[in-house]
This record gives sequence, C-alpha cells and structure tokens, in this order.
Amino acid sequence: MYSRIAGTGHFAPEKILSNSDLEKLVDTSDEWIRSRSGIERRHLADDDQATSDLAVEASKAAMEAAGVGPDDIDFIVVGTTTPDLVFPNVGCIVQQQLGIHGCAAFSVEAACSGFIYALSIADKFVNSGQARCALVIGAETLSRITDWTDRTTCVLFGDGAGAVILQPSDEAGIISTHLRADGQYRNLLTTTAGISVQPEGAALREGFNVRMAGNEVFKVAVKSLESIVEETLEANGLDRSEIDWLIPHQANMRIIKATAKRLGMPLEKVVLTLRDYGNTSAASVPMALDIAIRDGRIQRGQLLLLEAFGGGFTWGSALVRY
Ligand code: COA
Repeated sequence: MYSRIAGTGHFAPEKILSNSDLEKLVDTSDEWIRSRSGIERRHLADDDQATSDLAVEASKAAMEAAGVGPDDIDFIVVGTTTPDLVFPNVGCIVQQQLGIHGCAAFSVEAACSGFIYALSIADKFVNSGQARCALVIGAETLSRITDWTDRTTCVLFGDGAGAVILQPSDEAGIISTHLRADGQYRNLLTTTAGISVQPEGAALREGFNVRMAGNEVFKVAVKSLESIVEETLEANGLDRSEIDWLIPHQANMRIIKATAKRLGMPLEKVVLTLRDYGNTSAASVPMALDIAIRDGRIQRGQLLLLEAFGGGFTWGSALVRY
C-alpha cells in the first residue's frame, strides 16, 4: 500500500513587508535583497496570530480540497520550529481548533526540513495501514525569532503555513522519502537561546533570535541538496528528465538554481514562491506545492521532487506521483 496526496492547502497572513519597508528598518536595499536572495516581499503574522492559527487555515483548505471532515482525520503531524508553546504541541492545538478528537497529534522539529520529515513519518503510518487520513502540516511564524536589527538574516524570512491530506492508495503516491541530518554543522544556523539553554547572564528568552553564517550555510546547502536529489533518483532508478516539477525549499534563488542545474531542469519546471513569501522555513514546500496545484501547473499523474534543507543541519526529499 502507498499513501497519496488527496488534497492540499496553504495560508499566508495578510500583512506584507516589502524590501522597501525593510530599507527603513535596517541598512539594506531592495536591489541587494533581490539580487542575493530573489526575495521581494514576505508575509508576517499579526501579533495575535500564532503558528497554529496559520496551520488551521491551511488545514481547512487541504481538508476541503480532499473532501474530508474532522471525523476522517486520524493522524496529525506538524513540522515547525516556531511552535505556539512548548506544550501543548501545535498538532494538539490544531486538533482542538478543527474539532478533531483522539488521534495522534504532534510536531516535528527539523527547522526548514520539518515538512519533509513530517511527510515521511505520516507516509509510514498511512502505507503501513496505521492511519487512513493523515493531516501533514508545515507552519511557521519565523518573524517571532527574527532579529529585526540584523540585516544578514531579517531580510530572508517570512510566515505562512501549508498542509496536505494523505490517504491510502494502491498506486504511488509518495514513492520514496529520504531524510538526512548532520549535527556537526549545528552552530552555522541556530537560535541564540532556547528552553534549556540560555546565553550566560541573559534573562529567560532574552535575545531568542536566529543566527546564521550565511556563506557557510549556502555552501553546505548546495552540496547536500545536490546529493539528496541524486540519491532520490538513484533509489528509484529514475532519469532526471522524468521529473515534471521540482518543488524546492524556498531559501535562496541561487541555491534553488544550483539544484535545478544538477537536475538539468529549466527554471520553468521549478515551483518558485520565494519572491512573494521569502523563506517560510517548514511551510515553504507545502505552500509552493499548493500554490502550483491551485494555479493548474501541477497536474494529477505528474512526478514531483520535493526537497528541503535547514538548521541542524537537516535535509531531505520526497518523490511523489501527484
Ligand atoms: N543588505 C545589504 N548588505 C548586506 C545585507 C543586507 N541585508 N546582509 C549582508 N550584507 C553585506 C555583508 O555585510 C557583506 O558586506 P561586506 O562585504 O562589507 O562584509 C556583504 O553584504 C556580502 O555578504 P555575504 O554574506 O558574503 O553575502 P552573500 O552573497 O553570501 O549573501 C546570503 C548572503 C545570506 C543571502 C547568502 O549567504 C545565503 O542565502 N545563504 C544561505 C542562507 C539560507 O538559505 N539560510 C536558510 C537555510 S534554510
């Protein structure tokens, strides 16, 4: 048995921060941001919008697309690095908000690869017969851990959520998933504080912000993503020309171009949302997937390669027959 994507949804908060808005916050320019990253604007959650609120809206859209209701969902997993609280986990909050009772609900913390990790886990539950209707979400309010005085990071991130419904199927569906991590790079992309680790002398949660060695991250990201797409093709005996769509994590246009080049794919076959949403971490892949399904680019039967890379480092891919 396989799992297949029965429906998708996404949600972006209404508030938009453009590059020219950012020029008023830090010493940067629209030209620098666009040329170095490909980003022009990003959506930011309002103060009263939590990660779970974005996740709930994306989930409703995915459930409607799949034609399923709260009583059908029997598994919930959320990839997120910016949970509402330490506990209850975002999965439980989404579960309560959607009127779902009793099924497993949890979140997976794998930074920007969170959705790929969550999808891989849900796939195992569905294809082994332990779940029949899984809600898989990537949702983030990265703006909450962004240092708005640090021009090297604050220009890159945005908020949003994406969701998919997985159901059993005789035909693939999710063909294979590939998950990787290497903690040796842990300090290149990190937060300055957390729950059980606090910077010396700092008050609880003071200065809880993203810190990144952008250049180093860039190099490892390109190498890791190249090797994971090779691994995915090889594991399935596929030629790269057979992939219809690449749906990459939307971190940086130059990283995406490098992976597309390795696959020999023209950019017309790459789903790009980076310009309008920035890097929404675990939300970026399911958002891009839903956007391209809803605007008619991705058609049933097509072969999709999803990939992501994030802090940890973590990285992963999923080969999907839509
Ligand atoms: N506006 C203007 N100048 C900026 C700036 C900004 N927002 N941020 C950095 N700069 C400056 C730097 O201070 C540096 O100045 P200097 O040469 O005087 O020291 C210069 O621009 C070049 O910085 P550098 O870091 O070498 O730029 P870069 O070409 O590597 O681009 C990133 C920076 C962050 C866009 C790029 O490294 C990147 O995308 N890395 C991967 C990040 C990522 O994807 N992270 C998430 C992974 S999930």
